[in-house]
Amino acid sequence: MPLLLPALLYYPCWTELKIETIISVRMSAQAKPRILFSQVKIEATVRRLAAEIMRDYQDKHPLFIGVLKGSFVFMADLIRFLDFPLEVDFIRLSSYGGGSQTSGKVKVVQGLRSKVKGRDVLIIEDIVDTGLTTAFLLDYLQQKNPASLKLCSLTDKPSRRKVPVAIDYLGFTVPNKFVVGYGLDYDEKFRNLPDICVMEGEG
Ligand code: XMP
Ligand code: MG
Repeated sequence: MPLLLPALLYYPCWTELKIETIISVRMSAQAKPRILFSQVKIEATVRRLAAEIMRDYQDKHPLFIGVLKGSFVFMADLIRFLDFPLEVDFIRLSSYGGGSQTSGKVKVVQGLRSKVKGRDVLIIEDIVDTGLTTAFLLDYLQQKNPASLKLCSLTDKPSRRKVPVAIDYLGFTVPNKFVVGYGLDYDEKFRNLPDICVMEGEG
């Protein structure tokens, strides 16, 4: 049970909990955030991503779709380094396993207001972990016939990948540790940390 509790807290709904998540997210109650990427390093990286995105999108009036909640800090900083017309919208997804199934499924919890058809769409993610959420979203948006669809992710945890996901604009590659801060949370905490941190004490 001590190992189960943090996983239950991480996923808001017990019935939506993936069995594999119970096993893979192990954290002691004493787990503390330790800086992995400082705010200085983050700003340099966000500026670098903004320059790459500017080069590709400055004449396209793109639609940026932020994946809630984790991407909101990153997206807010990123767009302020962009000096061309763009629009933003947000989508909220949740992953769950049906009954005792261990394979993750994803559903849209909060949908888009914007029309995607014919738009140049850039997804803004906080992290690509197993890839299941992002793969779902790419497929979901592709079915709405955008003019183009690309992915920008603040972080990538390739060691946990279950489905292939191509990241067009990537900030940081992170180790197989639970990361928090700069929008990323553990049990809804630590989103307000200015640095990207790993939870020390994670088992
Ligand atoms: P995947 O790629 O596994 O990711 O479908 C699903 C969602 O889980 C969250 N996630 C994390 N959140 N630190 C976090 O704060 C992490 O290390 C982490 N790994 C996964 C995230 O919301 C992602 O979109
Ligand atoms: Mg996310």
